Amino acid sequence: MKHFSLLFLSSLLTYQLVTAFPSHASLAGLSARELEEIIPSLERRVIKPPPGPLTNTSAILVNDHLHPWKPAGKDDIRGPCPGLNTLASHGWLPRNGIASPSQIITAVQEGFNMGNDLALIVTYVAHLLDGNLVTDLLSIGGKTPKTGPNPPAPAIVGGLDTHGVFEGDTSMTRSDAFFGDNHSFNETLFDQFVDFSNKFGGGFYNLTVAQELRFQRIQQSIATNPQFSFTFPRYFTAFAESVFPLTFFTDGRHESPLQLDMTVARGFFQDSRMPADFFRSNVSWTLEKIGPGVGAVFSAHPIPPGGNVNNTVNTYTPDPNAANFSNLCKLYTDFVNVTVRGLYSDAKGVLLEALNKNLDFLFDAIKGQGSCVQVPPFV
Ligand code: HEM
Repeated sequence: MKHFSLLFLSSLLTYQLVTAFPSHASLAGLSARELEEIIPSLERRVIKPPPGPLTNTSAILVNDHLHPWKPAGKDDIRGPCPGLNTLASHGWLPRNGIASPSQIITAVQEGFNMGNDLALIVTYVAHLLDGNLVTDLLSIGGKTPKTGPNPPAPAIVGGLDTHGVFEGDTSMTRSDAFFGDNHSFNETLFDQFVDFSNKFGGGFYNLTVAQELRFQRIQQSIATNPQFSFTFPRYFTAFAESVFPLTFFTDGRHESPLQLDMTVARGFFQDSRMPADFFRSNVSWTLEKIGPGVGAVFSAHPIPPGGNVNNTVNTYTPDPNAANFSNLCKLYTDFVNVTVRGLYSDAKGVLLEALNKNLDFLFDAIKGQGSCVQVPPFV
């Protein structure tokens, strides 16, 4: 009898997990048994190759009548990225905040003029870490709409809010996950953004402000977050994202040097809103174009990858094995061999097939960068 009850309980739990599993929830890190139970319940999408570069890369009106701002609805997902939040709130991405990698690449190119190589690398790294490779969907945050009154959705969902894979510490306007909320706009941090813009940029966010604020946020995380971690991918995205407000949130009709007004900044960071009459950048921001800005932010206050240790603040210790700016092929190889392999060690069948396809798309964007060698497909 006891045996029967346990069996019944176990099938009930499995039933609940499968019926409640959202189509955008990540399959990363699940066991072979969980994957076997969940994958047959998912609607498999045919994964198409990603969109190519834009043919017209000029500045055009993107806050237009087809893309009006609307506040996020109660079940719409928003997350830590002000760029993707804004694209969703203007309908360049599905307003519910759940999209395929191809939809994200199209939206960041058309809405903000992000270059094709940069868009592909960021999107596929995020999708491999936080998306559902079988349904080809990624959530730009983490909240899961309830799939029915009972049972409630499972706690682990993935999506860009997931800490420690793509999302990480030391953001300009969001707190570190250690302090609780890693994705909402934080007024205290934005006040600091404004203070630094006043002190170093004459009231605007510019490259000098980006350099000083990036340094300040790193020092703050070292001094206050005992679990501060600063290795791939966060080590790279933190420096790149310091430049994004200049390249993507400034109006494309203005000449360089780029500088961002504080009201416009608050609109993007807090309300996910473009200013009225906003034109996207007049530059297609490829890796080659954005590289010097990211390099300038890094070089102002260089720091090796690493983190605090022993759960103690002020113990920043470099990690000699982590990829750094001087070895970008190692970054790719470690990502595939260590991170992705670790998250998908039990992938088989349709999941394995989808995994290899997404890894191919990622490498297609990376191979233009030099002499990196592709990691062979997983078997
Ligand atoms: C291409 C796909 C993109 C993905 C997958 C992505 C993802 C993310 C994620 C996960 C974060 C949070 C990082 C963290 O705090 O740990 C972030 C931050 C950020 N993203 Fe995006 N992003 C994308 C494109 C964009 C675009 C097009 C823009 C600008 C228009 C943008 C602007 C930013 C900025 C400024 C931050 C820093 C926020 C802060 O430090 O407070 N991103 N992004």
